[in-house]
Amino acid sequence: MATHILIIDDEKNYLLLLETMLAEEGYAVTTQQDPQLALDYLGESEVDVVITDMKMPHVSGQKVLEEVKKHSPHIPVLIMTAFGSIDGAVEAMKCGAFDYITKPFSNDELLLSVSKAGKLAQAERENRLLRQSLEDRFGVHQIIGRSKAIRDVLDMIGRVAASRSTVLLTGESGTGKELVARAVHFASDRAGGPFVPVNCMALNPGVLESELFGHEKGSFSGAVARRRGRFEMAHTGTLFLDEIGELSQETQVKLLRVLQERTFERVGGTTPVQVDIRLIAATNKDLAAAVSAGTFREDLYYRLNVVQIPLPALRERREDIPLLAAHFLKRYAEENNAEVTEFASDAIDYLTAFEWPGNVRQLENVVERCVVLARSSQISVNDLPPEVKDEESQFKSAVDLLPSKLNLGESLEKIEAALIRRALAKTNFIQVKAAEMLGISKSLLQYKLKKYNISGK
Ligand SMILES: Nc1ncnc2c1ncn2[C@@H]1O[C@H](COP(=O)(O)OP(=O)(O)OP(=O)(O)O)[C@@H](O)[C@H]1O
Ligand SMILES: [Mg+2]
Repeated sequence: MATHILIIDDEKNYLLLLETMLAEEGYAVTTQQDPQLALDYLGESEVDVVITDMKMPHVSGQKVLEEVKKHSPHIPVLIMTAFGSIDGAVEAMKCGAFDYITKPFSNDELLLSVSKAGKLAQAERENRLLRQSLEDRFGVHQIIGRSKAIRDVLDMIGRVAASRSTVLLTGESGTGKELVARAVHFASDRAGGPFVPVNCMALNPGVLESELFGHEKGSFSGAVARRRGRFEMAHTGTLFLDEIGELSQETQVKLLRVLQERTFERVGGTTPVQVDIRLIAATNKDLAAAVSAGTFREDLYYRLNVVQIPLPALRERREDIPLLAAHFLKRYAEENNAEVTEFASDAIDYLTAFEWPGNVRQLENVVERCVVLARSSQISVNDLPPEVKDEESQFKSAVDLLPSKLNLGESLEKIEAALIRRALAKTNFIQVKAAEMLGISKSLLQYKLKKYNISGK
């Protein structure tokens, strides 16, 4: 797409001259004699670069610059000033003008400056598109679910996003901690800055420190050049420390210091480095228990646990399972060009009744597998992997299983728990109906829910 330039000058001849010259170079040019109309035009069109004269009646170039900076700060503004009025130009540069040129100027001089501004605008535009697509992929709307539990999570994201507070995400593996971390970032005013994830478990302690804080040249053999760490990379953005429960005692101390002072030194360095970051930490461990056990520092825990967002296990929000399954089905059908459109309703029943120890990630994997292997446009119970049908098959073939593998009491309990879950799923978690289906009273059902640790909703 050609770079679109808006030129503002009260002298018509000048406008014509510039228009011809820039159009010849392949720019898309719009001219405007009236600065006020030009500003209106800016509000409704996609302009990449503005060139404005400084001295104009009614609205000055300075005012144009201020307005552009206020409403479209990403657009570079080139100021033209008459020979001798350099003061205004200096003032304009202070206010964020991209460049200024004094009239009369050579064509080359103008073209060079316009080309630089055009490149900046192009990069800016690409950046915005990239950000947009990142936001589409990682924004809050990617978090699927209508359950109370997930609505609470969305509500928390909305409330913490605007602040700079440290967020601690807790929850079992696969519950969406990283998804939520990105959503917080993209909902915050740091969305334009980087989102930098670090997995504390994946790196051994020695490497972790230089990964986090960077190192100076020659600080250890192999450190051939200065390297910026993740803290520096996350400057103006968000640092996501994943699996924070895995940090060694030594790194915990260092991290605590950074959080307290917001400065650190690179490995082998002495100069303090200051960064502006928002920290989000995640863990699937019970940090409070780790604190009691003495493996996680209490002071660090309090620093991290400013705002905690606990992510519910999938089995605690079963009503979201059909939604999530449909969401993943659509995604993987598109990705694989597969003509799969839906789950059979009894297949959904199985998915809803399953325990999902691996939570949403496991559900996602199961759905992907079903889509790839599906034999028709509808995924049937036969297409489901055996582990999902496990409880049910135990129930169906209970008699076969009993003598060889399971103890009677245990087997019956499992079967009972499986039946209760199925009944709940089938009745949309309306307990009265589930109890009726099972032929027991509601209070007995509630007793059994407690006994088997089954969530009633
Ligand atoms: N509510 C949700 N809506 C849509 N997709 C989800 C949701 N929760 C999780 N996912 C998807 O499930 C997968 C696992 O999520 P994620 O990686 O965020 O989990 P995690 O809690 O970080 O897991 P782990 O502790 O194992 O690292 C991802 O593909 C993610 O997009
Ligand atoms: Mg994760």
